[in-house]
Amino acid sequence: MASRPAARDLALWVLSENARRGIWVEDALATVLRRHPRLPPAERALLLELVQGVKRWEIWLDWALSHFLPQPLKKLHPRVLLILRLGAYQLRFLSRIPARAAIHEAVAQAKAAGLPQAHGGLINAVLRRLAREGPPPLPPKERDPVAHLSLAYAHPPWLVQRWLRREGLPAAEARLAANNRVPPLTVRVNTLKTTPEALIPRLAAEGISARPTTFYPHGLVLMAWRTPPPEAPSYGEGLWRFQDEGAMLAGLLLPLSPGDTVLELGAGRGGKTTHLAERLHNQGLVAAVELHSGRLRELRQALRAWGATVAAPLRADAGRALPLKEGACDAALLDVPCSGLGTLRRHPEIKTRLAEADLATFPPRQLRMLEVAAPAVRPGGRLLYLTCTTEPEENEEVVAAFLKEHRDFRLHPHPELLPPPVRPFLEAPGWFRTSPAPHGVDAFFGALLVRTG
Ligand SMILES: C[S@@+](CC[C@H](N)C(=O)[O-])C[C@H]1O[C@@H](n2cnc3c(N)ncnc32)[C@H](O)[C@@H]1O
Repeated sequence: MASRPAARDLALWVLSENARRGIWVEDALATVLRRHPRLPPAERALLLELVQGVKRWEIWLDWALSHFLPQPLKKLHPRVLLILRLGAYQLRFLSRIPARAAIHEAVAQAKAAGLPQAHGGLINAVLRRLAREGPPPLPPKERDPVAHLSLAYAHPPWLVQRWLRREGLPAAEARLAANNRVPPLTVRVNTLKTTPEALIPRLAAEGISARPTTFYPHGLVLMAWRTPPPEAPSYGEGLWRFQDEGAMLAGLLLPLSPGDTVLELGAGRGGKTTHLAERLHNQGLVAAVELHSGRLRELRQALRAWGATVAAPLRADAGRALPLKEGACDAALLDVPCSGLGTLRRHPEIKTRLAEADLATFPPRQLRMLEVAAPAVRPGGRLLYLTCTTEPEENEEVVAAFLKEHRDFRLHPHPELLPPPVRPFLEAPGWFRTSPAPHGVDAFFGALLVRTG
C-alpha cells in the first residue's frame, strides 16, 4: 500500500484534539511538530495551511457542506465532519491539489480511522458534489448584509453585526477581509544584543531572508526560509522572538527611563517583559506577574535567552490584592486577559470558540487588575492598559469605569510626546489602536494613564 501523505493525517489529529478536548490548535500543532521533527518542509507547510485554513474558513465550510448533506451537520460522526472540512477546504482553497486527490484522501482517511464504509460513501458523495457543482450562492449582500458577510468572510453573525453597526459597511468588510489574510511572520529584534541591520545578514547566512517591518523600527518580517525559523541558531541565542508588529508598537507606549521600577501584570510568555528589559537597558526592575505556571516557565526561559536580567518573574493572581508597597513603582504595564478578537488572523479558531455572552466575563477581571495595580503606581507615575481586542466593553469602557472611581488618574495629557512610531495609531482622547485594516497588524488597544496625586 502506498504510504499516505503525512500532512493530512496530522492535520486531522490536530483538528480532532481541538474538537474533542478543546485544545488550542497551536498547542496541538506544537505537539505534532515535536513528535515529528523530521517532517519534510513541504509537508510541514501543508499541515499548517490545512489546520489554520480549516479554522479560518470553518463557518463557510460548514455552510457549504450542509448544502450537500442529507442530515444536519450536528448529526454527523465528529470525525466525518472534520474529514469533510479538510476535504472541502482543499477543494475550495488549494488549487494546487487536484480535486480527485483531495476526495480520494478524504475517503482513505475515513477508512484508516476505522469508520464504517457508509461514512466513506457519504464523504465521497458530498465532496464530489461540491467539486462538481461548486458552492451554493451566498445570500445577497443588499438583502441580508450580516448573513452575506458572515459567510463570505467566515465570521460569526454576532461579530459581523457588531462591527457593521459600529464601523459601517466599508470598514467592517475591510476588517473581515484583512482577518482572513495569512499574517506575515514578524519578529522583534533583541536590541540588548543586536540590531536589525546586523541581524538581516546573519539570518541570510542561516537561510532566512528578512526585511524591516513597516512601523516598528526594530522588527523584521521573515519572508522565506530553508529550515524552520525556530531552528535557526540566532533564535537559540535570543537575538529575536516572534511577535506581531502591533504588539511591538504597544510595547513602545509606556514612557520609561533606565533605572525605573516597573510592575507588569499578565506577563505571559514574556513578549512585553523582554521589551521592557530592552527599553530599560536592563537597569531597574520589572516585577513580571503571571498566574499560570506553564507560562511562567516559558517566561523564565525567554528571559534567560534574551539576557533580560532586569526582570523578576513572579507567580501570583493579580485579580487579588498583591503585596505591593504603595507608590513603589514608576510605571505599570497591564496586558490583560481579553477575548482576543484583535488576533483573528493568527488565532482564527477564536471565531468559533468565543460566544458573544463570553464577552461579559472579561471586563470585571480587567477592571480588577487595574484596581490592584493602581496603588502601586507613584504620583507622577504611568500606567499602561493593553488588550488585543476590538470591543469597547473591554477597552474604552473598562478604562472609563476605572477613571470614574480613581480621580487621581487621568489619560496621558501629551500623546504627542510619545515616540514617533506610535503616533499614527493615537486617536482622541488618547487611545492607541492598531488594526489589520488598514495597518496590516493585529488589533491592539492601549490607554496610557498618569497618576496625578
Ligand atoms: C494578553 S496575555 C499576556 C501576553 C504577554 N504580556 C505577552 O506580551 O506575551 C494575558 C496574560 O494574563 C495572564 N493572566 C490572566 N489572569 C491573570 C491574573 N489574575 N493574574 C496574573 N496573570 C493573569 C494570562 O495567563 C496571560 O498570560
